[in-house]
Amino acid sequence: MVKKGDCMNFPKSVLLVCLGNICRSPSAEAVLRQKITQKNLDIVLDSAGTAGYHIGEKPDNRAITVGEKLGYDLSQLRARQIQWEDFYRFDIIFAMDKNNFNDLQKLQKKAQNFHLNQPIGTLLAFDTIDVADPYYGNLDDFRQMFVQIQKTADNWISIWQNNNQNLTKL
Ligand code: 4NP
Repeated sequence: MVKKGDCMNFPKSVLLVCLGNICRSPSAEAVLRQKITQKNLDIVLDSAGTAGYHIGEKPDNRAITVGEKLGYDLSQLRARQIQWEDFYRFDIIFAMDKNNFNDLQKLQKKAQNFHLNQPIGTLLAFDTIDVADPYYGNLDDFRQMFVQIQKTADNWISIWQNNNQNLTKL
């Protein structure tokens, strides 16, 4: 398989994926966007869902409300479903939980059948443990989701920043 450049060093583009693209992945997109802007990192971000239940919808109101309290603006985001082209457009595709990861793996295999010789993105788990789906939960579940996403986003940013600094020094 032809892989995109060494994306762990410093990705140019990152796609965050959950099931519906209205709770976890838009929240992660908003958190990461704020952090990469603050750190002046040049990374294109987007999010999508493996399912198409909520295409065109705003993020869940609870994600918008809790996000706003924490200083993140989710109000302009709209849900979309992942397309096979996304596997070629993004250096990293982050799955928010194991189900998302398994679904993405199947989709990625199908996508590879179309463009065998084009570099494909790397599929990774966003965190070492699942970001729990808060959709059937309460506001507290959304708060916990943001706490986990913030921590994990900080980890990724520091990995990318360190690698970026090392690359600049070469
Ligand atoms: P998300 O949460 O994958 O974090 O956006 C969900 C949103 C909607 C549904 C499930 C999970 N749903 O079944 O409609």
